[in-house]
Amino acid sequence: MSEKTEKLLSVLKLQPVVPVLIIDDVATAVPLARALVAGGLKAIEITLRTTAALEAIRAVANEVEGAVAGAGTILNAAQYQAAVEAGSQFIVSPGTTQELIDAANDSDIPLLPGAATASEVMGLREEGYKVMKFFPAEQAGGAAYLKSLSSPLAGTLFCPTGGISLSNAKDYLSLPNVVCVGGSWVAPKELVARGDWAGITKLAAEAFALRG
Ligand code: 3PG
Repeated sequence: MSEKTEKLLSVLKLQPVVPVLIIDDVATAVPLARALVAGGLKAIEITLRTTAALEAIRAVANEVEGAVAGAGTILNAAQYQAAVEAGSQFIVSPGTTQELIDAANDSDIPLLPGAATASEVMGLREEGYKVMKFFPAEQAGGAAYLKSLSSPLAGTLFCPTGGISLSNAKDYLSLPNVVCVGGSWVAPKELVARGDWAGITKLAAEAFALRG
């Protein structure tokens, strides 16, 4: 296994659930990340869907002890580089392009590339990938679909995201080809807007307890 894959797996194995965050106001990034870390969720994916995202990654990487800041919704090489410069320790994309694979090959920071079909998984395996994001998990066929990939595509591990919550996370986490799941449910917009950090720590702790 390559050093970069090991690095990625060591992050994804920190916890059963990776929070997927959409941060509108950079001022919320640090208290939100601290609340998640306090609940046990150290690896945190901040998506590049807002103008605050890069600054939020920088703030979490520099200011939140114990956090492992990552970037999500990376769609091209320029975003990959910007996210790495901001301090991301892992990069997540919803799908895969050659441009992203090239950017990942040029970087020390590992990519968790998106795949949703057997052919996409096979293409990534040919590029040397062993760990992928299964997206959008529920809409693409859910845990039953992913389970059916486990035998023919043995050796590939997934972090499913999309439509996952406390109620269905275990369906995925019990599969042999799932390393963790991702989801936004641990950081609901209303709680972030209210600054209810204790509420978020509680959700994070519930998510952390899903395994074990
Ligand atoms: C992602 O980017 O991985 C998903 O948008 C997260 O999906 P969710 O909001 O349904 O958890």
